[in-house]
Amino acid sequence: MATLTAPATTEPHDTFPINGTDYIELFVGNAKQSSLYYRAAFGFQLLGYRGPETGVRDRASYLLQQGKIRIVLTTPMQPEGPIADHVRLHGDGVRDLAFWVDDARDAYAKAIERGAESAHPPEVMKDTDGEVVIAAIRTYGDTIHSIVERRNYHGLFLPGFVAVTPEFAPPPVGLKYVDHCVGNVELGKMNAWVDFYARVLGFFNLLTFDDKDINTEYSALMSKVMSNGNGRIKFPINEPATGKKKSQIQEYLDFYKGPGVQHIAMATDDIIATVKALRARGVEFNQTPTTYYDTLQARVGKIDEDLATLQALGILVDRDDEGYLLQIFTRLVQDRPTLFFEIIQRKGAKGFGKGNFQALFESIEREQALRGNL
Ligand code: FE2
Repeated sequence: MATLTAPATTEPHDTFPINGTDYIELFVGNAKQSSLYYRAAFGFQLLGYRGPETGVRDRASYLLQQGKIRIVLTTPMQPEGPIADHVRLHGDGVRDLAFWVDDARDAYAKAIERGAESAHPPEVMKDTDGEVVIAAIRTYGDTIHSIVERRNYHGLFLPGFVAVTPEFAPPPVGLKYVDHCVGNVELGKMNAWVDFYARVLGFFNLLTFDDKDINTEYSALMSKVMSNGNGRIKFPINEPATGKKKSQIQEYLDFYKGPGVQHIAMATDDIIATVKALRARGVEFNQTPTTYYDTLQARVGKIDEDLATLQALGILVDRDDEGYLLQIFTRLVQDRPTLFFEIIQRKGAKGFGKGNFQALFESIEREQALRGNL
């Protein structure tokens, strides 16, 4: 029955309001070539550039966008300095998972007060389009969270970036937004980082997987999924668990030389069309064991998609109480066994494909064995 009283506020108060992911920045060895890869293979559009030609001497950055996903690829111009150090140590990898906030000074002050380590205090960047206030805090490994306030900015992205309209512009593949970003941390450190996100940034623990959920003969992991107050930012945190041989999380840590971002999941409204387009452009995906599809119908029940099409494309399906999801994982996007991407379509399900972890692990381990790291 309708009433005029206000609904009860049972949701916990959001103590660190974040509007969403602002951008994801990768430090790479050759941003010019990487940008062509993400455009040609993944359908990102090149929108902006900042570098020596625009007055920034020490780096070149390419701004790519598809749907709401903004990726910045940055490379150092000289062998000295923090960007070059990052690339030398980690290879190509994610440096920054940036938050979009209304008040960067206030958010930064709150984070520091609650125990965050500063990467840099608030800085005001200006150009003729207004100003952006940007601060940053450190998270696991050499990864940071920039805190970006852009309410007084009307330009393309950040001051210093100039718009570019390349002749070569492969069309988008239907990627809409960042669904989640997964961090790998050292054995025994998962709970410390879970606590960091809860205590400093007001995140809550959405889901937990232990080594009984995710375990093959050789490899295991534990994972806790942290979400911010409005649910737009989800960070699963993985740590290796002990198996007979080396965990794939440990392999990542060994090659990234510490904790870092393992994969970024990007959402689509039509995974079949998106994955077809990605495959046609040369994106490689982890192989799914063909036996996976023998039991799929029994495991997930009725779904809208044609099973034969899903099998032909290698798309995985999982169901939870609220619906189902479709997902697929790319192969590594660089030679070091570190970063990869996930493509996901949610049809009600709010989980992360727990039922698929086993199948995924088995396929990852076949590749790990081929590299001699198992
Ligand atoms: Fe994922």
